[in-house]
Amino acid sequence: MYNRKEFKGDFSITSSDNPLADKLADDMRECMNSHRCTPPMLPGAALEVMQLARTPEPDFKAIASSLEKDPLLAARVLRTANTALFASGGRIDSIRHALVRLGVGTVRNLVLQEAMNLRVFRSRIYRQEAEGVRVHCFATALAARSVAEYTPLSPEYMYMVGLLHDVGLVLGLGALEVLAGPKEITPFPSAVYWPALIATHEEANGLMCTRWNMPPELTLLLSQHHHVMLGGQPHPGLAVLALAEVFADLRGFGVTRRGSRPMKQTGRRPDERPQQVIEEALTALDLSELQFDAARQRVDAVFLEAFGQRPGDPGTASSAGA
Ligand SMILES: [Fe+2]
Ligand SMILES: [Fe+2]
Repeated sequence: MYNRKEFKGDFSITSSDNPLADKLADDMRECMNSHRCTPPMLPGAALEVMQLARTPEPDFKAIASSLEKDPLLAARVLRTANTALFASGGRIDSIRHALVRLGVGTVRNLVLQEAMNLRVFRSRIYRQEAEGVRVHCFATALAARSVAEYTPLSPEYMYMVGLLHDVGLVLGLGALEVLAGPKEITPFPSAVYWPALIATHEEANGLMCTRWNMPPELTLLLSQHHHVMLGGQPHPGLAVLALAEVFADLRGFGVTRRGSRPMKQTGRRPDERPQQVIEEALTALDLSELQFDAARQRVDAVFLEAFGQRPGDPGTASSAGA
């Protein structure tokens, strides 16, 4: 059952109460807004598919042709399309077939996910952290798709929002690498760089979205995704995302791991959602506590399918830092 005691926590996104982290965050902002730090780019074929999928009547032939220009990406999309998480029934053997069977929204998400896995969730020094962000974004996308089924929102749109919602952390890792210089190990303690990453990542999301030519509504949402309110009004997309992150976190797929060193030092985890945000989200979506519990069980079943993790195993995610 819904238990308020599970969801306590402080919540500060712009300031860390740590002067060293605040100084590092300022240096990262300066770096990310300069030519010294280049946001990772999606492959050209993925950017084309994202644009084509956005049109009111997407052209399947054009989408398939764009994607087939990148055989590695196309092959990875097909491989994932044939997993139980995305399709059931007979084998999907071409991108055109995937578009017909799964729909444009699902294929766009598969392209985005595989493109980000190939090119974006990477770091020279912070490999473990980049992998943690990848798993966290995937888990949040899965959870957001399930939670959206209890709302009028498109589950596929919310999956895309979940995939993208913390991509700014990767730009932050890139800024940390630039600040580290040629060193092969991080010169910053994790208790300093994690709060700095969290403090800067919404702004970094905005920079990434602009670079990837994302629509303005999505850019705005991702730039303020740690709140349920947008422009003074509750935003249903942000509310779904907030609940999705809570469910991911409860199963050990938070962006920072429960009990990890920086959290022991600061007494809290910087990406934690407090109870107030959850209750705002439930109100914004007009969801009852029973629906909250049902959504949570559905998300657990999806995690079991995706990660082989049994519900009731919090904190056992195999990927570090997630
Ligand atoms: Fe997150
Ligand atoms: Fe975030």
